[in-house]
Amino acid sequence: MAAAETDATAARAVEIFVALLASRGADPYELYAQLHELGDAATIEPGVVLAFSHAAVSEVLRDPAYRVADAARLDEIWPQWREHPSIFTPSILTSNSPEHERTRGLISGTFTPRRVAQLQPAVEQIADRLAAAMAEHGADGAPVDFMAEFAYQLPVTVICELLGVPEQDRAEFRPKARDLAGGIDFAEDPTVIAAADAAAVWLHEYFGMLIARRRADPRGDLISALVQATGPDGSLTEAELLANVTVLLFAGFETTTHLLGKGLHIILTRPEVEASLRAGTLPVHAFVAEVLRYDPPVHAGTDRWRPEAGELCGAAVPAGAQVIALLGAANRDPRKFAEPDRFNPARADGGSMVSFGAGPHYCLGAALARMEAAVAFPLLLERFPSLAIGGEPVRRGGVALRGLDRLPITVT
Ligand code: HEM
Repeated sequence: MAAAETDATAARAVEIFVALLASRGADPYELYAQLHELGDAATIEPGVVLAFSHAAVSEVLRDPAYRVADAARLDEIWPQWREHPSIFTPSILTSNSPEHERTRGLISGTFTPRRVAQLQPAVEQIADRLAAAMAEHGADGAPVDFMAEFAYQLPVTVICELLGVPEQDRAEFRPKARDLAGGIDFAEDPTVIAAADAAAVWLHEYFGMLIARRRADPRGDLISALVQATGPDGSLTEAELLANVTVLLFAGFETTTHLLGKGLHIILTRPEVEASLRAGTLPVHAFVAEVLRYDPPVHAGTDRWRPEAGELCGAAVPAGAQVIALLGAANRDPRKFAEPDRFNPARADGGSMVSFGAGPHYCLGAALARMEAAVAFPLLLERFPSLAIGGEPVRRGGVALRGLDRLPITVT
């Protein structure tokens, strides 16, 4: 590629990226389509590369030459990180090999497919309770907000169940977990960041207390299993336990919330999808997989950096460069997915979507999130034969995490 073309590509990528940052709450897919016209990746400022094709995003997430920013890296580029417990905790999400392999091995040894399967009856019960409350609130035909009454409730309650947070403590979790999530999404507002930091401190104190309790008196929950987990290189330290328990809450909450919100919105705005789900001709797992590809909850925030200079799909990546991987763009890459903008649960190529990431940091909770959605949608359709949109949905104003803040529905 000639130098002039490269400059033009970089300039165009910068324009699109600026529009993307400004697009908080708006649909980003037109901008992603414009990025795909530019190729795989582009430099948007010296030392910052934007990866948007499926090939480039997959390479960044899978190739060990790219690393997540860990505490040592942050000490170099942003020493103030220690003042913001919400923005960074040294957990599996933010550690690299070999440390990452050790902690991830210990955690995934406890958070097993069997544990997820055993959780299903509890997920069904929680979903049923939430649906019953919606039925009551909407019995007069008035709209109820699906996000507040169901989508924001189910995942956080399920994580509490998984971790072993006692029922009487759970009501306090949702606002704290939401405040915490608010801090990471390209937040600039100091009050949002302060609320996120306060929530992180609260959650660390709470989990510190619960970990101590489970250490003294283990139960069948995940915190007890994590406390007891040992491997060839020892156990999780107190700091690792605390950070990773908080990450499980944080990573599994609003992500799953938006899968539920987006999924129900698709069901209620596409009569053919609703009809085939109701008739059983569209398997719920295929539907959930296509919701994840078509409109994923996590669009960005999975940045990496590259200590050594290299190349990404032909674009130069200088030593020390930051690489922003756009997951939502990769899922709509026309070079990977046939008719990428068409919602098609029967597609054969959906398995390569990157909504749960890829490579060593691939989502630990993917099976749990899929199970929650696969329980929720059939349950809602069965319980509410005339479910409908009851007002204008309101989008969440994020860039990295995209979804709905309000989804009014009528249930009678
Ligand atoms: C639809 C729901 C979900 C989505 C879209 C999602 C998405 C992701 C993505 C994209 C990553 C990769 C991050 C990276 O590469 O930097 C990730 C990692 C992770 N997720 Fe999820 N997630 C979901 C649900 C959950 C749930 C329910 C849990 C647990 C209760 C969970 C726990 C984690 C953990 C612990 C990691 C870090 C893994 C590591 O760094 O080794 N996630 N998730």
